[in-house]
Amino acid sequence: MSAMLRHRVTSGSTLCAGRRSKRVIRPRAGAAPIVPGNGECPLFVDREGKVIPAMCADYGFRSGAGRLYQEGYGEVPKDVWQLAKDNYRHELEQLRRAVRYPPTDVRQPEHPVAKALHAAGAALGSGFASLDRALEEARVLSPLQPPPVLSALETREFKEIRSRLDALRLTADDVVAEEERRIAAAGGDMASPVWVKAPFYALCWLLDVMYDNKPIEKFWVLETVARIPYFAYISILHLYESLGFWRAGAELRKIHFAEEWNEMHHLQIMESLGGDRAWFDRFVAEHAAVFYYWVLILFYLVSPRMAYNFMQRVELHAADTYSAFLKRNSAMLESIPPPMVALQYYYSEDLYLFDEFQTSTRGQAPPRRPRCESLLDVFTNIRDDELEHVKTMVACQNSTIAKHIAASASAASASASAASAALPPALVPPPAAQQAEEAPAASAAGAAATAAAAAAAGAE
Ligand SMILES: [Fe+2]
Ligand SMILES: [Fe+2]
Repeated sequence: MSAMLRHRVTSGSTLCAGRRSKRVIRPRAGAAPIVPGNGECPLFVDREGKVIPAMCADYGFRSGAGRLYQEGYGEVPKDVWQLAKDNYRHELEQLRRAVRYPPTDVRQPEHPVAKALHAAGAALGSGFASLDRALEEARVLSPLQPPPVLSALETREFKEIRSRLDALRLTADDVVAEEERRIAAAGGDMASPVWVKAPFYALCWLLDVMYDNKPIEKFWVLETVARIPYFAYISILHLYESLGFWRAGAELRKIHFAEEWNEMHHLQIMESLGGDRAWFDRFVAEHAAVFYYWVLILFYLVSPRMAYNFMQRVELHAADTYSAFLKRNSAMLESIPPPMVALQYYYSEDLYLFDEFQTSTRGQAPPRRPRCESLLDVFTNIRDDELEHVKTMVACQNSTIAKHIAASASAASASASAASAALPPALVPPPAAQQAEEAPAASAAGAAATAAAAAAAGAE
């Protein structure tokens, strides 16, 4: 078995090698339990010392060095030209493979517009494939290697979990039904002007049509754009501070950063589940994110209140989408272990930023410490995070509540400091020097993820 797939026991900042005997990872109703082969699946030790098996592989395009808390975490970037060149080379090869060796296991959409788009995309891809062959024959492009054979890198767990992830379902009708149920329970839809509703419905329609019955890919695109508004709001608040226009928003900036940090983890979770495997999805989401940033900048300049109103709608839609997904797939989700990045985030010892965006309970109730023992827990946590974002967006449209949030911040910070002081010595993070020594041990787990990424990228 490849050294890249060696077994690790991971506990926050502490790593220790170990060997796990053959045993059932997760016997749950609704699906057959997964039995590890040679102990390739990583284990995570939570704050109470409980060992939680994590997902065996990282199925994302950008895993390994691209995943938070893994290989290369905390490095300083290269210069922009080098980064752009590396990315261009990587993506060009993936683009060529995507058109020359299109995946055979793509789920066919059901929505008529999605079907038409799919057919148009296949025709366009075939045209690009002919062009690519012609350029290769003319020696303009280098010879293209076929994608690597997946079975050489796959373990039984890799394939079993991949097949379960592929079995997850979510239709546009599921989301609409959930949305209607929520609006009926609330006694009506929230109020927004037409110029806020129009881009919102356009965004929802596009996502529903393009990603009909492709939930993980849809969530990945959704999370790629979901964090952009918070970054846009921070940019404007920072600009106002720099220009001396307005400096009362420091607390707001902190909350928005915590929300953006939270959305980034949602994004990483979706990536680890393989949401970013398709070249086309990456192209659409990453370019849409840049466009969306400038739209939100304009929104926030013209009317911060309406920008928050827009985001309230987006966050409600995200919560509805996750709720519908949870209802349809709960048994299957419960049978799948959580990805390592989810464990590292939801069981993190540095809970400061997680607490920072829990604006509805801050300073009033015990801090939220969600369970994270299966993919069902992970998606439940993400749905609950989205609901927290909704509450913050509501508060931000009401200056009185926003002031209350700011006032409770100091109380929350004080209680967080007290909680960390009360941690047993074993749970206190080690000094930076010790963490640096432990970093090489973590790289094997990162290497395993890189192998999975290579396999996943080759699948395009
Ligand atoms: Fe999110
Ligand atoms: Fe959100």
